[in-house]
Amino acid sequence: MGFSQLPKATPSILFLVLLSCTCFTSTDAYDPLDPNGNITIKWDVISWTPDGYVAVVTMNNFLAFRHIPSPGWSMRWTWAKKEVIWNMVGGQATEQGDCSKFKGNIPHSCKKNPTVVDLLPGTPYNQQVANCCKGGVLTTLVQDPTKAAASFQVSVGRAGTTNRTVKLPKNFTLKAPGPGYTCGPAKIVRPTKFITPDKRRVTVALMTWKVVCTYSQFLVRKTPTCCVTLSSFHNNTVVPCPTCSCGCQRNSSRSRRCVNPGTPHLASNVTSSGTNNLSPLVQCTKHMCPTQVHWHVMRNSKKYWRVKVTVTNFSYRMNYSDWNLLVQHHNFNNRTQVFGFNYKLLALDAYTNDIAMLWGIKSRHNDILNQAGPKGNVQAELLFRKDKATFTFDKGWAFPRRIYFNGDICVMPPPDAYPF
Ligand SMILES: *[C@@H]1O[C@H](CO)[C@@H](O)[C@H](O)[C@H]1NC(C)=O
Ligand SMILES: *[C@@H]1O[C@H](CO)[C@@H](O)[C@H](O)[C@H]1NC(C)=O
Ligand SMILES: *[C@@H]1O[C@H](CO)[C@@H](O)[C@H](O)[C@H]1NC(C)=O
Ligand SMILES: *[C@@H]1O[C@H](CO)[C@@H](O)[C@H](O)[C@H]1NC(C)=O
Ligand SMILES: *[C@@H]1O[C@H](CO)[C@@H](O)[C@H](O)[C@H]1NC(C)=O
Ligand SMILES: *[C@@H]1O[C@H](CO)[C@@H](O)[C@H](O)[C@H]1NC(C)=O
Ligand SMILES: *[C@@H]1O[C@H](CO)[C@@H](O)[C@H](O)[C@H]1NC(C)=O
Ligand SMILES: *[C@@H]1O[C@H](CO)[C@@H](O)[C@H](O)[C@H]1NC(C)=O
Ligand SMILES: *[C@@H]1O[C@H](CO)[C@@H](O)[C@H](O)[C@H]1NC(C)=O
Repeated sequence: MGFSQLPKATPSILFLVLLSCTCFTSTDAYDPLDPNGNITIKWDVISWTPDGYVAVVTMNNFLAFRHIPSPGWSMRWTWAKKEVIWNMVGGQATEQGDCSKFKGNIPHSCKKNPTVVDLLPGTPYNQQVANCCKGGVLTTLVQDPTKAAASFQVSVGRAGTTNRTVKLPKNFTLKAPGPGYTCGPAKIVRPTKFITPDKRRVTVALMTWKVVCTYSQFLVRKTPTCCVTLSSFHNNTVVPCPTCSCGCQRNSSRSRRCVNPGTPHLASNVTSSGTNNLSPLVQCTKHMCPTQVHWHVMRNSKKYWRVKVTVTNFSYRMNYSDWNLLVQHHNFNNRTQVFGFNYKLLALDAYTNDIAMLWGIKSRHNDILNQAGPKGNVQAELLFRKDKATFTFDKGWAFPRRIYFNGDICVMPPPDAYPF
């Protein structure tokens, strides 16, 4: 994926690898752009029961630019002893498992390694807890801090009933929704303090433990899902995405299935394959990517230069809600203005100030990138203030160095193809 080309990052990444060795088994288990980013899962025991405890489990998305899209997260762990889940609120175990030993009260799940998912929006209020029931979908903190956390409540039986006898669950795995996440062991931390909304009362968890999960693009090694096209007002050629950026149409080992717009089977193809299918059904193009980002240098005046960014959806059956774009360009700063999208300079560890996040604006309805078709694109304009010392149209300076869609790097045209 070309991370060997990241000149600024190298020393700090090496440093972080050395630092991380005590907590990660694999030195690959982080994202080079966001080395401290993580998803933290916290268990707060809030009461003891005759045979165990009730815990509130909270998951916080601390990844800088990676959200959890539909169909949402799923979490799995292995019980240390013979624990069972009597009851859950705001989430559910996907399988009950073998509860045949129980008479009378039947547990919610008797699996040794339960998988838990969020409930769907519209769950009755008496089955909800705060932050639940979003179908497992979480945004990033930058996009919407109120939607970057999830919670559920679990009542555990056949467990310890004091903070010395509880055995922590082991072997956490997280899918959010795909693979690429590595979770460390659960660690006991200082018990959480809860403050009531009116700030008049403070309660303390009886016991708290945390699990930290990190994401690695290297662990996934998935095919790209996005590519970049470039153009400029001073040259009317559009530099296309490299052929086969995300796959090839025909006879090769990388060929993928695709559909042509207007074919008779399109409607049935789109609906037949179910909504939980993570692989997009793409429109046939030379690049075969489900999404494409176009960067057009529109205008150049004395003090400013202007760019139009268009994100196009080439997939059927996939709604990219709460999408985000990361753009790396030397000219981003706090005087850049963006019309049509939200904009924030990201202070990522390895990159001080040349990476910005762009994402849709809810009231303009461009926070959802619609499927392929006439409405399947979103657009915004970027206005950069010129720094005379560095501005030039030479050597592709006006074009971005890297673009990520939903956290995954997009395939760029080769530098010698840039318009000049
Ligand atoms: C996880 O992210 C949080 C928030 O950024 C940070 O405070 C914490 O130190 C991180 N944990 C690890 C193990 O990196
Ligand atoms: C941990 O979980 C993974 C996947 O759920 C499983 O393949 C592995 O065997 C488990 N390891 C232990 C020690 O339970
Ligand atoms: C267990 O509870 C005792 C008494 O409340 C407390 O002093 C101790 O710190 C707790 N230990 C843990 C690991 O939370
Ligand atoms: C594709 O098929 C054509 C005709 O069968 C063949 O000439 C060509 O080499 C094939 N291309 C690849 C990449 O296999
Ligand atoms: C679309 O549907 C038709 C008929 O159901 C099927 O033959 C074809 O393989 C499907 N194409 C894709 C890309 O799923
Ligand atoms: C995509 O979004 C539209 C509009 O919100 C909705 O009607 C449609 O069902 C969504 N499709 C999928 C596959 O989620
Ligand atoms: C922009 O950043 C510079 C340098 O970091 C700072 O001095 C200036 O106050 C900032 N301006 C605004 C409007 O935030
Ligand atoms: C692409 O378009 C489809 C159909 O309108 C839509 O369901 C999907 O959300 C769109 N994808 C993005 C990234 O907006
Ligand atoms: C426009 O850019 C292309 C490279 O992308 C180059 O081949 C072509 O000569 C340029 N045209 C002009 C008029 O400069």
